[in-house]
Amino acid sequence: MQHRYLIPSVPLIISLFFAAICIAAAQEAPQEPVVIGAPVGAKLKKPKVEFSHDKHAALQCDTCHHMLKQNPDIYSCSSKGCHDLGNPTSSKERKSILYFRNAFHANSKVSCNGCHKALKKEGKPAGPTSCKKCHTVK
Ligand code: HEC
Ligand code: HEC
Ligand code: HEC
Repeated sequence: MQHRYLIPSVPLIISLFFAAICIAAAQEAPQEPVVIGAPVGAKLKKPKVEFSHDKHAALQCDTCHHMLKQNPDIYSCSSKGCHDLGNPTSSKERKSILYFRNAFHANSKVSCNGCHKALKKEGKPAGPTSCKKCHTVK
């Protein structure tokens, strides 16, 4: 009778095994700088921004990848359903955190410029806060 319980657990073990591999693979930070993506169809006013994981290695992954627990393999900030508003058309939309620009600039330690500004104010080593030093990718 025992095999009745064993048989259904085999696929479970196999899927847990592959899930574990996926999570392990997803948790490697890229060594080379990545160019941050924009939502599909967004009309950009500025050059794009390069991001180095290496220079931010002191931070926990979920400082920025704040949905990691819910979504272990989605890292793109402007994925569908995330900060995916590319071309806001009202002042409400322009202020929304769904407008991808705000995800990177908001006055919060989670955002690029928010963290850099806060650290600078505290007199600590910080990243750039000037437009030109971040928007470098022509
Ligand atoms: C300071 C913020 C920050 C931290 C900390 C951070 N990341 Fe990222 N990561 C980003 C940004 C921004 C992107 C680009 C996302 C996009 O294009 O929308 C990214 C992209 C990625 C990608 C996709 C790379 C690609 O090829 O597009 C992976 C994988 C990743 N991060 C893993 C990690 C892991 C693992 C850690 C922790 C060891 C980590 N990240 C820490 C901000 C961060
Ligand atoms: C929670 C804080 C924090 C967040 C969030 C953060 N940074 Fe930084 N960043 C730093 C610190 C601290 C340094 C300085 C590291 C050093 O001097 O060693 C830095 C350095 C940098 C540098 C300079 C790297 C160099 O070559 O010297 C750039 C460019 C940069 N960050 C871009 C970004 C971008 C783009 C994002 C968002 C995707 C981001 N940072 C998010 C804290 C942060
Ligand atoms: C710490 C890095 C950082 C700084 C400093 C910064 N930005 Fe950004 N900005 C980003 C990131 C990351 C994005 C999202 C990815 C992209 O658009 O390339 C972004 C997006 C934008 C966007 C929306 C995309 C577009 O091109 O239309 C605008 C507009 C913008 N920034 C303007 C500015 C201006 C103006 C300044 C200076 C007052 C500035 N940024 C300073 C990182 C930064």
